Amino acid sequence: MKQDIEKIIISEEELNNKVKELGQRITADFKEENPILICILRGGAIFMSDLIKQIDTPLEIDFMSVSSYGRNSSSSGIVKIRKDIDVDIQNRHVIIVEDIVDTGLTLDYISDYLKNHNPRSVSICTLLDKPEAHKLDLKIDYTGFKIGNDFVVGYGLDFAEKYRNLPYIGILKKEIYS
Ligand code: IMP
Ligand code: MG
Repeated sequence: MKQDIEKIIISEEELNNKVKELGQRITADFKEENPILICILRGGAIFMSDLIKQIDTPLEIDFMSVSSYGRNSSSSGIVKIRKDIDVDIQNRHVIIVEDIVDTGLTLDYISDYLKNHNPRSVSICTLLDKPEAHKLDLKIDYTGFKIGNDFVVGYGLDFAEKYRNLPYIGILKKEIYS
């Protein structure tokens, strides 16, 4: 796996520190509000499990799975729900936990979809953001790191289901995906 990585852009230590910081911010913003954190599978799973340990107030979790990317590495814009939420989010504060915002199409769709369930609020928390790739104006409440337009893997993010278990975020060598 390691030989497929061009460069490590975010180390394990930097990830840990950032997740801690985001957890503290969410704790302060949702103290005693019992928010529901909805993780977008599968990329958000590692981030989610580390993040909730850094949030010091009662919360609930749920999971959603949508299809956005297939084997290729560009967004289709077509979002299909593969696994829906199981909890009732009506009148609840919802925080969507995502690995990365690229075009923003996936999160825009998910956020609208969840708003139709009449939650009290919907916030977005993403570990990574690629601002140059956005195709629409998306309000992101919590961002871990802004990165350039490279294809990255690790810490939950995959290419063709590989590399999710790398403990850092690395840029994938172009010859692997092109
Ligand atoms: P968007 O709809 O274009 O914002 O795509 C978001 C989804 O595409 C993310 O949840 C990821 O699953 C995937 N994605 C986008 N960029 C990358 C990347 O650099 N590496 C791995 N997955 C990515
Ligand atoms: Mg994803």
